[in-house]
Amino acid sequence: MVHKTINPKILYYGNPVILLTTMNEDGSTNISPISSSWALDHFLVIGLGAEGKAYENLKQRGECVLNIPGPDLWERVESLAACTGKEMVPPGKAAYGCVYVKDKFQAAGLTGKKSSAVSADAIAECPIQIEGKVRHIREPDYMEGIAIAEVEAAAIHAQEDIIKEGHHIDPGKWSPLIYNFRHYFGLGKELGKTARA
Ligand SMILES: Cc1cc2nc3c(=O)[nH]c(=O)nc-3n(C[C@H](O)[C@H](O)[C@H](O)COP(=O)(O)O)c2cc1C
Repeated sequence: MVHKTINPKILYYGNPVILLTTMNEDGSTNISPISSSWALDHFLVIGLGAEGKAYENLKQRGECVLNIPGPDLWERVESLAACTGKEMVPPGKAAYGCVYVKDKFQAAGLTGKKSSAVSADAIAECPIQIEGKVRHIREPDYMEGIAIAEVEAAAIHAQEDIIKEGHHIDPGKWSPLIYNFRHYFGLGKELGKTARA
């Protein structure tokens, strides 16, 4: 196999999409699509643009919900791509046509659902909802305009029909929406199971 050294503009090599909900100053809930995240045990690390509303709310409230959509929701995710909850649209966002949207639930046709451990609403249409409390946030000095937040899961909810044996997600019934170099994909068929417990 021959490999070539390349210099791509983006490096989003295929992560699940998350609709991050955070509470605004007036008690309403903002929705921000993100794909930069990973989970280890019950901790989650997320990468956020520092000029976005999600980051502002996360810093102020220290709480969020990671709502995980399935592939069927991709068009609703995409409908929020050029929307910000910031009334004064930051120049970096205005440059790509981003507009202020106060009610992103209405804009995307999504439904708010009260959370149990945090103040921001969850999104009813997302099969998995992870309520989280911020443990640590930093803006690394080597990455301008990017923040990294570490979040601890405080309550986890899953749609009944993807749960097996009481507390587990059935991977045969659940599949995330994947953001693959800025294109949306669903997962294909199962290839196998790890031997790891
Ligand atoms: C599929 C998808 C993935 C995205 N991933 C991220 C991400 O990981 N981090 C981020 O800060 N913005 C990401 N964005 C861009 C934000 O959604 C966008 O900046 C939005 O305006 C944020 O809204 P807010 O300012 O109300 O928080 C993504 C957008 C889309 C559509």
